[in-house]
Amino acid sequence: MSETGDPLSAVENSLDRPSAARVYDYFIGGTTNYAIDREFGEQVKQLLPKVDEYAVTCRQFLGRAVRYAAGAGVTQFVDIGSGLPTEGNVHEVADEVRPECDTKVVYIDNEPIALAHSTLLLAETADPERHHAIAADLLAPEDLWERVQATELIDFDQPVALVINAVLHFVKDEQDPDGVLEFYRRKLAPGSLLMLCQMTNENPASEQERQALLTLADYYERTTNPGQLRTAAEFSRFFGDWDMVEPGLVYAPAWHPDGNSLFKVPSESRILAGVARKPA
Ligand SMILES: C[S@@+](CC[C@H](N)C(=O)[O-])C[C@H]1O[C@@H](n2cnc3c(N)ncnc32)[C@H](O)[C@@H]1O
Repeated sequence: MSETGDPLSAVENSLDRPSAARVYDYFIGGTTNYAIDREFGEQVKQLLPKVDEYAVTCRQFLGRAVRYAAGAGVTQFVDIGSGLPTEGNVHEVADEVRPECDTKVVYIDNEPIALAHSTLLLAETADPERHHAIAADLLAPEDLWERVQATELIDFDQPVALVINAVLHFVKDEQDPDGVLEFYRRKLAPGSLLMLCQMTNENPASEQERQALLTLADYYERTTNPGQLRTAAEFSRFFGDWDMVEPGLVYAPAWHPDGNSLFKVPSESRILAGVARKPA
């Protein structure tokens, strides 16, 4: 595992503010979160009472998208912003779909506690020959790419499933997500898949919800991960000119539904999701 800086001081520095990884863990019922994260999570729930269901929706989409990729024969996964390990991690879903266990996964996060837990989980449950967890920043793509290459796990001449799930709402346009995504799309071989989901501010159901979504962005300014919500039109650009896998960019519960969604009306989930394939 490679590290960016001294891990102990990185962990200490990450505990003075809530972190997106740990607040999300709290929302999806995990145990790797601290009082500062839970307090913040409760404030967000006051604002958006279904926010924990939005988080579960992101996680469910991840599982279905990985299932799709592994079923379609893509065996290499690079998961940027992988977060804290919980039920249904990428390597577990991929191994379920491909019991021959020929899949490889590199987990990447820039949150020190997420990384520490990923490393522990992998030590206990994963195959060090096929699964790695590394520290890197989505927004420093050249450095991230070098670190992935240094694992010697991924053959970049073959298709890769690049997962950036529930992460882009923590990236503002001024941080150049366009350039960053363009870099990753360019590096990948034809047949690669790009899996993205993010929270949207599209079509709020009421004026109250519109205000709540605006306030949410202000709230996240207090965390280690400020960000920005996007409409479907604003979000779709991150797929570039790749071919959208059916049914395209949709509300997450409508993407290859498996009957487990918490939302009968997909748009109530507030999560946009899609998978695209790099053309030959
Ligand atoms: C909401 S969690 C999503 C976790 C996981 N992808 C999932 O879908 O269940 C967002 C994760 O993105 C990570 N993250 C945010 N900005 C990042 C960046 N610039 N580089 C790497 N990871 C980042 C956070 O630390 C957090 O673990």
